[in-house]
Order: sequence, then C-alpha cells, then structure tokens
Amino acid sequence: MRVGVLTGGGDCPGLNAVIRGIVRKGVQEYGFDFTGYRDGWRGPLEGDVVPLDIPAVRGILPRGGTILGSSRTNPLKVEGGVERVRRTLAEQDVDALIVIGGEDTLGVAATLHDEHGVKVVGVPKTIDNDLDATDYTFGFDTAVNIATEAIDRLHTTAESHMRVLVVEVMGRHAGWIALHSGLAGGANVILIPEQRFDLDQVCAWVESRFKIRYAPIVVVAEGAMPKDGDMVLKDGTLDSFGHVRLSGIGEWLANQIEKRTGKEARTTVLGHVQRGGTPSAFDRWLATRFGLHAIEAVRDGDFGKMVSLRGTDVVRVPIADATARIKTVDPRLYEEVGVFFG
Ligand code: F6P
Repeated sequence: MRVGVLTGGGDCPGLNAVIRGIVRKGVQEYGFDFTGYRDGWRGPLEGDVVPLDIPAVRGILPRGGTILGSSRTNPLKVEGGVERVRRTLAEQDVDALIVIGGEDTLGVAATLHDEHGVKVVGVPKTIDNDLDATDYTFGFDTAVNIATEAIDRLHTTAESHMRVLVVEVMGRHAGWIALHSGLAGGANVILIPEQRFDLDQVCAWVESRFKIRYAPIVVVAEGAMPKDGDMVLKDGTLDSFGHVRLSGIGEWLANQIEKRTGKEARTTVLGHVQRGGTPSAFDRWLATRFGLHAIEAVRDGDFGKMVSLRGTDVVRVPIADATARIKTVDPRLYEEVGVFFG
C-alpha cells in the first residue's frame, strides 16, 4: 500500500511529529510506502512530491514548521482541480491520502471523500484550537506558551514605565489563544471575538489597574471587535478559501485607550512568532498520537474520518463533523475569567 501525506494551511508546531508518527508506524508495523506531497493541496494538484521514508523523518520530532511545506491552495477553486488531484494519485499509485490541516484543508478532504470517493484520513491541526469535534489541536499549546512568555516579559516593562501594554494574539475568529495565554499570563483585560467589547469598560479596567499602582496588560485576539465597530483587517485581500487577513485591532485599541485615559499605551503584535519554533512536549505527544492513529485508520480502511482527541482518548469522527462549524469560546468560560479583569 502507498500512502500520500500532505500538510495544508498555516504551519503549526507539531506537524513534523505527526508525519514522523505516520511514517514510523506505517513502515515498521504495516510495511507501507509513502509519498509526501509538497505545499498542501498544491502537491497532488501539480504532482509535486517529496521522498518520505524513515531516514526522511529522522530528527524532525522537535522541529517546527513542516518538512512537506504548506500552502493555502484550494483545488476546489481550480479549474479541473479535483480531476487533477485524482489523476496524480492514480498515476503515482497512491492508494490513500492522509491530510493534515485545519478547517479549510480538511474541508477539501471531506469533499474529495464524500463527493468523489478519494480515500482520505484527516488529522486536525491549528494553533487556533477552533476545530470542532476535537478537544484540542496540536500547535495550540505551543502558541499559548509563547504568548504567555511574551505577556510575562511585557509585565515587567509595563510596570517599569507605568504604561498600558496591549498584546495582540492570533486565533482568527476564536478567542482560545487570547483566553488561555491571557489567563496564564495574568492579563488585566482579555478581549475575544466571541464577545464584542465595550471601550468604556476596557478603559475603566485600565484605570482601576493604575489606581492600585500596577500597569495593565490587555490581551486582544486579532478577531476581537468593539461593540459599535467592525473587525480590523490587515488589508482587504482574501485567500483562496475566502478568509480575510486579520491584525490591527491591537494598534487601534492602544490609540483609543491612550486618547481616552491619557495613559501611554503601546502595542505588541505577536504574529507568526506564535507559530514558530519547536513544539511543546504536549504538542509533540498529541501530534505523535494523532499520526499513529491516522495510519491505523488507513490500515483499517476507515476513510472519510478524522482522528480526534476526546478526553485522553484518540477517536475517529467524520471529517465533515469537524469542518461544519468552528469551535468558539463558551460565554460561561469567558465569564469565569472575568474576575481578573480590571
Ligand atoms: O489559522 C492560523 C493562523 O495563524 C491564524 O491565527 C491567523 O489569522 C492566520 O493563520 C494567519 O495566516 P497567514 O500566516 O497566512 O497570514
């Protein structure tokens, strides 16, 4: 049996650990051969391959990024894209494809399986942790740790200068990274996309912090929105899945806070630092287990499924279940952390 593997969408710490898990178990236990596809769906679309065997996965466990490369290519938006993918797989004798990706990449996998009979198994990844049908995605823990460390460091400089420091974190339309890193880093205000924020309230929290001679740290998710305003976009461009580029809310917020409170306010945008570098131990653990379970699903012929974490168990769910909607922060959870605001 020959199994194709691709990684699509934004890169994420732990991708290499999944690839390693798949190949090690696939070769050692099942005697499978592998074809790596370069740059997500662009690989099978254009027949661009990377050799994938045990030597190729040696030493990659702690490496960030992906040895296969990634892209946001959407074959469903390319003329004859589905046929081209199918043709590549047939010509290269690839019997099944393991697709490691987020909502978009897995959405393509679901369509190829459900509507075109391609044998796929999905592995969820995203630092945003916004994929439904899995408790956690790998990459999230690393991103949260990076953001938490940044917040810790910003506390000391904020206090030395008695400034407001606004930290903008990623997460697209979900506030998971903001919520977890904001709580772990002791932020005074956490703003998430799921709850529009009231600027007057944010300024009141900022001022109450100064009153007790502490400098406030405001963690804002890139997708957060004021009550009477819109999402701040980087520019108007859309990727091939129709997503706009976010970022800018941090700068906007710092300006507003400075204007309204008279306190100096600065912004730090963490950006891609959150996705870079070595995965945390938890992400290596989760990613490796996902890899092992994904190749087992291929061995079982259980296609159209995605591996998923439920509690401490890795289970299989229909890919379509994971891509139907995004997993957002429960308002009750947000309310729970509100005790630390101000
Ligand atoms: O989905 C992961 C993510 O890092 C989001 O948090 C962010 O909005 C987006 O990708 C950024 O995408 P890109 O790296 O293509 O600019």
